[in-house]
Amino acid sequence: MNALTQGNMFTSVATREHILLTGATGFLGGSVAAQLMADGQGAGLCFLVRADTPHQGLERLRDNLRQHGVSERDCLALDAGQILCGDLLDTSWLARETPRLMQMDRVINCAAVASFSKNPTIWPVNVEGTFAFAEVLARSARLKRFLHVGTAMCCGPERESPISESWEFPEAEQQLVDYTASKAEIERRMREELPGLPLVVARPSIVVGHRSLGCQASGSIFWVFRMGFALESFTCGLDEQIDVIPVDYCAEALIGLARKPQLNHDLYHISAGHGSACTFAEIDRAFALANGAEPVGERYRKVGVDDLKSLANSFESRIGPANPRLVLRALRLYSGFADLNYLFDNSRLLEEGIAVPPRFTDYLEVCVRSSSEVSIAAQMQWDFK
Ligand SMILES: NC(=O)c1ccc[n+]([C@@H]2O[C@H](COP(=O)([O-])OP(=O)(O)OC[C@H]3O[C@@H](n4cnc5c(N)ncnc54)[C@H](OP(=O)(O)O)[C@@H]3O)[C@@H](O)[C@H]2O)c1
Repeated sequence: MNALTQGNMFTSVATREHILLTGATGFLGGSVAAQLMADGQGAGLCFLVRADTPHQGLERLRDNLRQHGVSERDCLALDAGQILCGDLLDTSWLARETPRLMQMDRVINCAAVASFSKNPTIWPVNVEGTFAFAEVLARSARLKRFLHVGTAMCCGPERESPISESWEFPEAEQQLVDYTASKAEIERRMREELPGLPLVVARPSIVVGHRSLGCQASGSIFWVFRMGFALESFTCGLDEQIDVIPVDYCAEALIGLARKPQLNHDLYHISAGHGSACTFAEIDRAFALANGAEPVGERYRKVGVDDLKSLANSFESRIGPANPRLVLRALRLYSGFADLNYLFDNSRLLEEGIAVPPRFTDYLEVCVRSSSEVSIAAQMQWDFK
């Protein structure tokens, strides 16, 4: 039996810390779970999963972990006692599960509605539900760290790059989308209203693919690059840089920040930063090499966001069958972030001894290979679920 299947066993396993991971059925959380399991920490993990029963939750978790390369043996070693069923949209379960939450040493909070769309659950989940969850954990005498996963984009537009970590946020209406506004608001509320919470916030930049699995677990955002090169047009200049990291690097950094006994700060970017960001021209060349094609290079046209509409006639021939209205909406939304041209300073993270991030062009070929059977329109669905 696993140590987490009975509450009274926690105290008898003095050396093993108990880590509660949320969002493990998703992209970042799945990668964090996969790495903790590869490090032999599987038995000490507890997972907050949306499910009616622990068994159903376990099956949902296993399905995702397989996509993150976890072996069948390791998937089967997890048991239903490690699943805590709970939804951040309706937090009535918190009262029932408080005793169990009080037995956690560390929390890695990856759960959120991570969508640029107008989704009515963004604020209730990302702000209200997350706050209710953190409020319970703030009462724990045992909890050593609550590592909350934010987003570097919560700094808002019109900032001067490179961006350093800051607890100052723009007004919600200045944010590009509700999602970033919600992510800023929950950070502010936890920090100001929960002084008892051992809060550390990690803000990843743009997470795309995995160094060895490519887009197998998620095609999130990779489709934007495919679309831009297929259309030979987008709103960024080829000489501009973009701050992209792979999900397995992000997970490695999150685990480092969650487990390191002492940290120098309570807020970190997890980003490519100045040293590892790539220009679109470099990405174009790596993309072309991986596809056995010529780079777009001179044929590339930088267009304004209002000109994106003029590309709609060529959507079908260049990117395959797709709903033009949806493609246009997606291009507009993502161009808003790409145009910010932000690099996020990662010196705090590196000073903690976390490895230097890889460059997107180092593993882009793996992303191309793993996407070869997936149409651009189908891959886009990762971000419009
Ligand atoms: N991906 C990026 O590029 C990126 C960049 C910066 C920051 N982040 C941050 O990283 C975190 C994870 O993002 P992701 O890309 O991994 O997103 P994701 O793949 O959509 O995963 C989201 C996770 O949150 C869970 N979740 C959603 N609503 C929930 C609810 N009501 N109650 C409980 N759990 C809920 C999902 O569970 P279900 O499976 O049940 O839906 C899933 O496990 C988010 O906080 C996001 O802001 C992501």
